[in-house]
Amino acid sequence: MTLVGIVPAGGSGERLGAQRPKAFVVLAGRAMLEWSVEVLQGVCDRVIVAVPASASASATAESVVGGSSRSKSVRNAVHAAPEASVYVIHDAARPLVTEELVRRCVEALGEGVDGAIAAAPVADTIKQADGRGRVVSTLERSSLWAVQTPQVFRADALRTALDADAATLAAATDDASLVEAGGGRVDVVESRDENFKVTTALDLRMAEAVLGERC
Ligand code: CTP
Ligand code: MG
Repeated sequence: MTLVGIVPAGGSGERLGAQRPKAFVVLAGRAMLEWSVEVLQGVCDRVIVAVPASASASATAESVVGGSSRSKSVRNAVHAAPEASVYVIHDAARPLVTEELVRRCVEALGEGVDGAIAAAPVADTIKQADGRGRVVSTLERSSLWAVQTPQVFRADALRTALDADAATLAAATDDASLVEAGGGRVDVVESRDENFKVTTALDLRMAEAVLGERC
């Protein structure tokens, strides 16, 4: 089994609003993306980072130029590593990932499973509302999962999924949804809220606090 790790880091970080792309913002002493690179390097044979065309490369991993959407960034990295039998994808925006979680996702990729994805049970009650804000329904929380990365895939399943048209790729917010759309089997691997995504300035402060405690 050849495991190739991919770190999508090609976004601009508009919602964070920093002076540089989000993945390159310094977090607890190093560029945010390096936290994820280090964890994937502990598990994978090779790690590739997709970075914005305007940014520098990763200090510690191979880099490719990202695309106009997250899925295109992933696709560029996949094309750079055709030898993979399994791809381990983990967003640079989730710097609190652990090797233990990555390994559990890889182990969950059993016979007949195309993808295994980290996800946390939903803590809030989730409702569906119409365009005017009127509640339509309350969803059954026990079956809902807040999906994260790592997302781990059999290489052929991911390559086929990324062969979608430009509009489908642009609309996808994760890789698993593309595999699911093609009829692939994807299983969730229980994770914790601690593997949260850094989107806003508040998230960045919380990530600093957690990493500060770990060191
Ligand atoms: N990403 C990427 N290529 C893109 C867009 C996003 O590789 N064209 C990556 C981001 O770098 C991030 C992950 O996908 O690690 C999740 O995206 P998100 O949290 O939305 O990050 P940004 O797109 O950078 O942030 P924003 O949406 O606020 O601009
Ligand atoms: Mg984005």
